[in-house]
Amino acid sequence: MDGVRELARLVLPTQFGEFQARAFEVSSGLVYLALIKGDVGGGGTVLTRLHSECLTGDALGSLRCDCGVQLRLALRRIATEGRGLLLYATGHEGRGVGLVNKLLAYVEQDRGADTLDANRRLGLPVDARNYDDAAAVLHAVCVGSVRLLTNNPAKVKGLRAAGIAVERIEPLQTAAHHRNLSYLRTKQRRFGHVEPLGHLPDAAPSTPPDVTGLLGKLEPPAGRPYVVLTYALTLDGRIATAVGDSMRFSGQEQRCVSHALRAACDAVMVGVGTVLRDDPQLIVGLVPGISPLRIVLDSTLRMPSTARMLDGGPVTVVLTTDRAAESDRERLQALGAGIRVVPASPAGVDLPAALGVLREIGVRTLLVEGGARVITSLLGDRLVDRLIVGTSAKIVGAGAEAVGDLGIARLTQDISLHNRCMHVTADDVITAWDVA
Ligand SMILES: NC(=O)c1ccc[n+]([C@@H]2O[C@H](COP(=O)([O-])OP(=O)(O)OC[C@H]3O[C@@H](n4cnc5c(N)ncnc54)[C@H](OP(=O)(O)O)[C@@H]3O)[C@@H](O)[C@H]2O)c1
Repeated sequence: MDGVRELARLVLPTQFGEFQARAFEVSSGLVYLALIKGDVGGGGTVLTRLHSECLTGDALGSLRCDCGVQLRLALRRIATEGRGLLLYATGHEGRGVGLVNKLLAYVEQDRGADTLDANRRLGLPVDARNYDDAAAVLHAVCVGSVRLLTNNPAKVKGLRAAGIAVERIEPLQTAAHHRNLSYLRTKQRRFGHVEPLGHLPDAAPSTPPDVTGLLGKLEPPAGRPYVVLTYALTLDGRIATAVGDSMRFSGQEQRCVSHALRAACDAVMVGVGTVLRDDPQLIVGLVPGISPLRIVLDSTLRMPSTARMLDGGPVTVVLTTDRAAESDRERLQALGAGIRVVPASPAGVDLPAALGVLREIGVRTLLVEGGARVITSLLGDRLVDRLIVGTSAKIVGAGAEAVGDLGIARLTQDISLHNRCMHVTADDVITAWDVA
């Protein structure tokens, strides 16, 4: 393509899964980074985000704008759909006026100007961006028709003028923080943007525990992720009480370890039984860290629409089978879940196939948090690489066992564990083992 030169092509693992990253230099000398999910060059309309660089919002978490939230929301939408493209425009900082001018405009805003008048006071253009280069890069990756993730009508107009068919506009509505509410209102009132909604920032985190020893060597075998199985037991060996309650087994330190384990892995997985019983959110909240992909094994899509895993946080992917009703697939997809159909097994979802799919979508390390049936299936299929068990100072008597029948009749057939690591907290003892 004239004026567009590809500089690098590589796989970029992100918290939203793997993307193919392609860097392009355009005739003006600016660099555009295309993050591509799935096959986008084969024709058809592609879910696309053209994202203007915003160092403060994207990288530093600034609350003066909604750029970082939009960036992550767009990547999430693309990851959920399994096909799409995010084009990151490095020359578009501050609507094209550059970082320092943008910061100077912030100073003017602190003196009372809105985001539009601040630029005028400084003698800067209100919006200096041009969309011809972005269109040229889209053509270079063989994308000519898009569903554009944007709130900004100027982007739609600019891309259309440069020959890209914008088939549909998909708004990226985020929750307003009280610090950027007036900025978002100005964009709506004076730039014609769509009404923003909102999303509050996470609670203040604490110091994370070092869980590298517990996790072991983290080397994935061929064709599937490295599987870390973890659960919490009472001192008398129960995973839950007789009525299925397991929510408050562990002390606060062990819960922080659990969150640090999640933050270290590409994805965290449970069976639908745990979703129905405990309704976990499976995010990283107790330590600073990134929440991983969330995976549910659910062969007939019993997952309720109210499940907290469908809360709009990290991507949730449900692994199901052709035994699930099409209406349930649509129901969960409409709530933002990714659905992948894999072969069935007597236990539900065929685990080797499911793990193969996870590896294909870029999951190299998988933390499995139960419950009992999933633990039993994974151990029975010899698909566990590392086992991490927290034992709590509680006795509950009759209750649910962590591991069911594995068909082991003789001790010579047992699953042996080695390479132990131990972590002792005030309330719990956590042991980790390689599983042979
Ligand atoms: N203490 C802890 O650390 C901890 C952690 C998690 C859960 N729990 C407790 O465990 C209990 C839930 O355990 P659970 O056994 O009922 O639920 P589970 O293991 O979370 O989910 C089991 C369900 O997952 C689906 N599934 C799909 N493929 C499967 C496969 N290959 N193998 C196994 N299951 C598969 C099946 O439903 P379909 O046939 O419909 O697909 C199956 O009934 C709750 O009481 C919960 O509190 C404790």
